[in-house]
Amino acid sequence: MPRVIFVTPDGTRTEVEGVAGDSVMATAIAHDIVGIVAECGGSMMCATCHCYVEDAWSARIGQRSDGEEEMLESAACEVRDTSRLSCQITLSSDLDGLVVHLPDAQT
Ligand code: FES
Repeated sequence: MPRVIFVTPDGTRTEVEGVAGDSVMATAIAHDIVGIVAECGGSMMCATCHCYVEDAWSARIGQRSDGEEEMLESAACEVRDTSRLSCQITLSSDLDGLVVHLPDAQT
């Protein structure tokens, strides 16, 4: 079971157990993580699942798709090199211990 650590802007860390094949967004919603809204339910139409992948994990996550890149333009908070839509990150055993930081706001 890949673990995901969500870090709020004030530094609070919450570790949850995810399921391989699920998205980081779905994992956040399943564990009532405040800060991931996911208005569109994961169809890459909202950018309210924006997160910042911790630097050490960025290379393992891979690149943003063109569609993801476009949707991030409507994110409520600053878009950084490590910005991702959490609905587009699929958990696997390779991502056990993944750390994602939550933005100040999603809307
Ligand atoms: S949940 Fe809407 S873009 Fe990710």
